[in-house]
Amino acid sequence: MLRVRFPDTIQVKSEGIIVSLESAVLVRACEHATAYLQGLDTRSVATTVGLVELRKRLNVGLGAEGTPPETVIDELVAATAGGQLGSASGRFFAWVIGGALPSALAADWLASTWDVNATMYACGPAAAVTEEIAGEWIKDVLDLPRDASFAFTTGCQLAHMTCLAAARHAVLDRAGWDVELDGLVGAPPVRVLATEERHGSIERALRFLGLGTRSLIPLATGDDGRLRANVLSDALAAGTGPTIVVLDAADLNIGACDPFAELIPLARHAGAWVHVDGAFGLWARASREHRHLVDGVELADSWATDAHKWLNTPQDNGIAIVRDRAAHRAAMTLAAHYLVAGGEARDAIDWTPDWTRRARGYAVYAALRELGRDGLAAMIDGCCRHASALAWGIGDLDGVELVAAPTLNQGLVRFLDPHGRLDVDHDRHTDAVISAINSEGTAFFSGTLWRGRRAMRISVVNWRTSDDDVRATVDAVERVLSQINSTS
Ligand SMILES: Cc1ncc(COP(=O)(O)O)c(C=O)c1O
Repeated sequence: MLRVRFPDTIQVKSEGIIVSLESAVLVRACEHATAYLQGLDTRSVATTVGLVELRKRLNVGLGAEGTPPETVIDELVAATAGGQLGSASGRFFAWVIGGALPSALAADWLASTWDVNATMYACGPAAAVTEEIAGEWIKDVLDLPRDASFAFTTGCQLAHMTCLAAARHAVLDRAGWDVELDGLVGAPPVRVLATEERHGSIERALRFLGLGTRSLIPLATGDDGRLRANVLSDALAAGTGPTIVVLDAADLNIGACDPFAELIPLARHAGAWVHVDGAFGLWARASREHRHLVDGVELADSWATDAHKWLNTPQDNGIAIVRDRAAHRAAMTLAAHYLVAGGEARDAIDWTPDWTRRARGYAVYAALRELGRDGLAAMIDGCCRHASALAWGIGDLDGVELVAAPTLNQGLVRFLDPHGRLDVDHDRHTDAVISAINSEGTAFFSGTLWRGRRAMRISVVNWRTSDDDVRATVDAVERVLSQINSTS
């Protein structure tokens, strides 16, 4: 490649082709991206540089003079090498972080290139219509009410906030209170019943909405992590007034889905709004083999999920779906003299908490088209199969206890200290083994506390995970265990 001085000319020669400086940096980024993706199978899934080194490499000082775009990108890639956790890899099983399907990744690049503000049809007609279609397809593949409203948010956290803002509006409206006009000071108290397995993003949404975490009444679940009908009935009967019930599809430790068909009618009969945390588990609706786990979830009032988890779009893509369109719109809509209402077209600003926002619909649209209904079902069921194979494969190794075999795509194992007798010994050993597995670099897992004991979570939500990845991971865990046991 012929290098040119910036900014004297706007042309560079790449592979014999004259391209503008802007194109050259994009071609360069594409080369880096391709090299990164091609190295996913061979590179350590764990990071190989730490905080001090990253700070040293990146803090090059901000000079008065600019830097040519290609140099910026080349140096950024070099400085961050080894500092990207390999969550794009098929051997990443920590937390719940999906990969990115090829077309979704490419569509997301294009969304950055087009760089429209997807807040209104007037600012980005194509983005608005793509979102409109993608939203309809999402309701269709998840088999939720087709006339529900929806919003594409940054993630499930803001999807919860959006849905619960609609819930707050509706339950207070029924109590004769206009929260949009009068706020919460002096409003009837709202109680929120949620299981003890709820994700922390529910609490945070309650804080954002001014309901506060004291509004939350935790409900115990059974050994299978699911809420029982009698527990919910008792909790509903124990209080009065505006009530929101939050159910799980699914919990992040063992993937437990509440028995929706039983619980939702009870809650709705008591006048409560039912919200479902379906960050990843709601995608079981699109599966052939696991759909029964989420039967009845369609009876809820609102659903929050993520495209960036199990649909495998790049990060920054959550979805809020609300049965009561009027409540959703009332909680989010905004008009100003300088805005141009879309009329017949859909304006995202009526449904999302953002003003200026990324065109998130492109990645969702692309992912759904790339997979089709059959491909989506196969991807969901494939992840569940891999989660089971990992849990049973690791669980069969010496010194490993299978704590929870996956019913969906999450499982738990625990590593037993050969010299330990107490739970605390096995807890310590479990954390040490997780850390050793991660350092080895073949695969990456995270830990958790389940029923008071430490365990390793096995979470599979990446389209890339293959039978080979599962085999390589079980082998790596076996290697690490035998090394630890031979030295202890
Ligand atoms: C069950 C559950 N709910 C909500 C969230 C929050 O989602 P997000 O990180 O997309 O905001 C997560 C994240 O992992 C989750 O697992």
